[in-house]
Amino acid sequence: MSIITRKDFLKLTRNVFAAVGLSALAVPVIAFFYPSELEEVPTDPVPAGKTDEIPPGKSKMVQFGRYPAILVHTSEGIKAYSAVCTHFACVTKWNEELGQIVCPCHEGYFDPLDGSVISGPPPSPLEALQVTIDNGSIFIQVGGDS
Ligand code: FES
Repeated sequence: MSIITRKDFLKLTRNVFAAVGLSALAVPVIAFFYPSELEEVPTDPVPAGKTDEIPPGKSKMVQFGRYPAILVHTSEGIKAYSAVCTHFACVTKWNEELGQIVCPCHEGYFDPLDGSVISGPPPSPLEALQVTIDNGSIFIQVGGDS
């Protein structure tokens, strides 16, 4: 069994601090040049599955660029919104029993027909996404009506 000397301990500590310091400098530089694989907000329509995957009253979450989107089959057809709550950016969910889109963080409630705030602290409606259906395939993109 070997015993570490004070000199070795100080040397080891210095090397650990040097490695941590280099990492703190290198990681942001690498992250800056590393290409992001996900678009912030896609400009082209994004496939969101098939219409038969969302029966009336049901919903589905899909990825929309870096953020989740929520699709709900409402009485007025399939509606899509950014699932990011307009309060503090929690991810909203569909509550089938209530028939509302709900933010679990601070009890924000949204109308699935237009994304408007029903109650709670969110300051504005969910961002509506445009829904296009082509041969049973759903596509979503920015520019929906709220
Ligand atoms: S983050 Fe959604 S209600 Fe606060």
